[in-house]
Amino acid sequence: MKAVSRNWVASVHVALSLIGLPYAAGTSGVCRKNAISRSLFSSKSVYMSPAAHVKARCPVYPGSDTRRFPVPDDKVDWDTDWPQYSPVNYTAPTVLKKPVWADPEIGPFSPQFNSLDGSVDRRSHEGSYRLQNGKPLNPHGRTGLEGQGLLGRWGPNHAADPIVTRWKRVSTGQRVHHTNSQLPVLQFVSIKRLDCGEWAIPGGMVDPGERISQTLQREFSEEALNSLQASPSEREKIQKRITELFNSAGLQVYKGYVDDPRNTDNAWMETVAVNFHDESGNSVSELPLQAGDDAGQVSWIDVDSSLALYANHLHFLETVAKERNAHW
Ligand code: BGC
Repeated sequence: MKAVSRNWVASVHVALSLIGLPYAAGTSGVCRKNAISRSLFSSKSVYMSPAAHVKARCPVYPGSDTRRFPVPDDKVDWDTDWPQYSPVNYTAPTVLKKPVWADPEIGPFSPQFNSLDGSVDRRSHEGSYRLQNGKPLNPHGRTGLEGQGLLGRWGPNHAADPIVTRWKRVSTGQRVHHTNSQLPVLQFVSIKRLDCGEWAIPGGMVDPGERISQTLQREFSEEALNSLQASPSEREKIQKRITELFNSAGLQVYKGYVDDPRNTDNAWMETVAVNFHDESGNSVSELPLQAGDDAGQVSWIDVDSSLALYANHLHFLETVAKERNAHW
């Protein structure tokens, strides 16, 4: 087990700011207002800016040599007539092998879209989505690629992101204030994803039949505390410690579509991001972090606007920092 020390945080921070987002681009692109109506986790729901539609148009599809049909900003909207549109069809070999988590080809298989289909939730957080030739249409518009890509489900693929935070403190316990902003510095638990090497919130996919609150706690335990490898008695200890934090009123900072590079015209990522804050620093802050499952490394990282993180995760942190009146 790797002990958590506060000394290496600064060096990790420097290293992180050197990592660029592989699909980084401007904020242009057609996008629709993201609806957050009410929080599942707290009476307070925080509105954040809509998800851009930029990474979902990255030229080369992740994990492949497949190039998307280029979609300019003014052609993203499905309602803009574009007869020349000829998206590339791509479903990754891992998905074509029909693992349990993936849907088969549409045709003989015709799921109940826009509804709870058995234990698979095919409803979008953004409301009803359209179908074309029996396939769901990405609610944020054209991506230049049709099929499932790397995603298991046609339509929405639901994830959940637990943002676990604490105040950065010196060894005597006082909170650290940033020299520029004079505001207290927050730290969050970050993992380095094995699939793309980017730092991220330790989120993951909602399993069929699972409640989002369960996914949040399970993913955090698996990726940041390596609960899958722990002995039954250790696992019980870990669960006890974190259940308290995850049962506390989390702050929902996002719910909706994610501008993810894996998105296609017919399959896309959605997430619910919830902040669980260890105000006193003596709850989850004291648990030894250990990377597990899809995570290569895990660390407490200073929250700062210069971080480079996976998908929309930087925006989630910005919302958390502003809500908690922390340095950004
Ligand atoms: C990740 C989440 C992320 C979501 C959308 C999932 O695979 O585990 O952290 O928010 O994809 O990008």
